[in-house]
Amino acid sequence: MKYIYGNWKENNTLRDVNLFISEFKKQKMPNDVCFGLAVPYLYLQKMNKKLQKKCEIGVQNVSFSEKGEFTGEISAKMLCDFNCSFSLVGHSERRQKFKETNEEINQKMLRCFDFGIMPILCVGETKEEKDENKTKKVLKMQLTKCLKDIPTSKKFMVAYEPVWAIGTGVTPSPKDVEENVSYIKKVLSENIKVSGICVLYGGSVNPQNAKELLNGKSVDGALVGGASLNAKKFVDIGKNLQNIRR
Ligand code: 13P
Repeated sequence: MKYIYGNWKENNTLRDVNLFISEFKKQKMPNDVCFGLAVPYLYLQKMNKKLQKKCEIGVQNVSFSEKGEFTGEISAKMLCDFNCSFSLVGHSERRQKFKETNEEINQKMLRCFDFGIMPILCVGETKEEKDENKTKKVLKMQLTKCLKDIPTSKKFMVAYEPVWAIGTGVTPSPKDVEENVSYIKKVLSENIKVSGICVLYGGSVNPQNAKELLNGKSVDGALVGGASLNAKKFVDIGKNLQNIRR
């Protein structure tokens, strides 16, 4: 099974959402591919109702607190009333533009577990860190801090998203994707003591490069930004993975 998750970010008006839904419904879905979409909160209910059977619907962020005086925040407890199946946690845009720390991200992971929302933890190095050969050090640090004291029986996913590959059209080589994803799995099993965790790759994935980029034996799928805004492109990414042999 491959997992293709999309992240709409701060995109799509209601009109675009309606168009996406009708286009998505026309697509023939590939076998053995599970689709998910992290949408803006406002569309959670509608998307869930319309696409439930063909696509998991989740959100892009969640509050670190359960409730209280946190104006503008949405809690995991609220989300579970709306059948939200997952939330991205610690996306690099949240880390960089909203100054989220690993400690806050850890709290967000715990809130998701408390209320049955599957978190997808995003990790990845910046260009500077890569150039200084610090990728593995950064990945290990982010994983150990963000996954501190998590219940090891709960389901979650990790997305490896090198910051320099997001929205740039530049990607790591398939060999580097495999190496870093397999390193993440090693840290998960040796340091966090969890197994069977799916690890996705994210950063400039499109229907043309998906098959090659996601071909590595450790790579379980993709987290797709720009190309997930177009229903056909999004589904095509999954279709192009169908023939990968395991
Ligand atoms: P792009 O696919 O647009 O590079 O975005 C990746 C991403 O940030 C997914 O979370």
